[in-house]
Amino acid sequence: MGDPPSTSPATKFLFLCCQLGTEQVCKQQIEARWPEFRFSFSRPGFLTYKVPQQTGMAFDLENTYARTFGFAVDRVEGEDSDALAEQVWARAVTDLPNHLHVWQRDPRKVGESFEPFTTELTNRVVERLNGCRPAACKSIPVNSEASPNDRVLDCILVEENRWWIGEHRVSTTFQAWPGGVPPFKPKFDVISRAYYKTQEALLWSRLPIHAGDQCVEIGSAPGGAAQALLEYKLKIIGIDPAEMDPSIAQHENYRHIRKRGRDVRRREFSDARWLFSDSNVTPKQSLDTIEDIVSHASVRVQGMLITLKMPEWKLAHELDNYLDRIRSWGYQYVKPRHLAFNRQELCIVAMRHRSLKRF
Ligand SMILES: C[S@@+](CC[C@H](N)C(=O)[O-])C[C@H]1O[C@@H](n2cnc3c(N)ncnc32)[C@H](O)[C@@H]1O
Repeated sequence: MGDPPSTSPATKFLFLCCQLGTEQVCKQQIEARWPEFRFSFSRPGFLTYKVPQQTGMAFDLENTYARTFGFAVDRVEGEDSDALAEQVWARAVTDLPNHLHVWQRDPRKVGESFEPFTTELTNRVVERLNGCRPAACKSIPVNSEASPNDRVLDCILVEENRWWIGEHRVSTTFQAWPGGVPPFKPKFDVISRAYYKTQEALLWSRLPIHAGDQCVEIGSAPGGAAQALLEYKLKIIGIDPAEMDPSIAQHENYRHIRKRGRDVRRREFSDARWLFSDSNVTPKQSLDTIEDIVSHASVRVQGMLITLKMPEWKLAHELDNYLDRIRSWGYQYVKPRHLAFNRQELCIVAMRHRSLKRF
């Protein structure tokens, strides 16, 4: 864990946040990809590394588990949160960033009576910050979505009374979102958590879906993902031996085939442009089923969002093999991400061509 490092200008520290429980797999990927980074201070879900001074602001960490990342510039701590808020603004006055993002490292495991939406502590701190905002920072939006290339100041609530100040330039989709969590919160009951995962996967992956597109979803019950996909006005064939929520089953744009993926006739897939898969089986079984579908001559799936369950994070060392296998089916653009709303599972986007990606 180590002591908090000095953040003097002579040293450069990278910060990243990840879900509780993924620190080890996250670290292993960093060690393999960036052997020159030196592990430094950490807390569950928040890791820092001493990095070479020349590491550019707009580099891509290429880490599956890092929900977001940037560079640490300062730390503030103390019992008086008004005083801490003033110190955050003091930093903002010097840098005049385009945005201020305030977020808390995860206090609990995602999905276990915690979802990574804005926390109560974050709301309290934002209130404090708004209460002492200096005139020079009047136009800096707090916790709004940033745009590509924007400079963002991060106020990271590592502990209630110990905040890290970081900065990043928006060079990936998730860096535009406070703490790397897409800014949506449905005001209605979702059918299952898959609603959140699907919304986030669509926003992150920029899969170029259009209203009226036909898609197929393997492992569709009870229907949270379909609830999200229907908002985008997709036409869905849902495949699952289990029962669908009636509101989905009766929807005019939804058809349920109550079978396992491998038992469905291939011609059912011939009009599908997009494939979504979220079956609670091993990664190998999921990929076997998908391969069987997309390698059939009559099937023309352009892009996929695949959830792979990882019953143990030890399986993560197989990830590159899973990605290679998907590429071998003719998908040039294949990327994994541990979504903020994933649990012990990974999301993989695959598109026939990178150019398909929606802006
Ligand atoms: C995590 S749930 C899916 C959640 C769903 N996507 C939603 O939006 O609510 C996993 C589902 O996979 C289904 N499943 C397991 N094996 C399957 C297979 N071979 N083919 C289709 N569905 C399968 C299960 O019946 C279960 O409903």
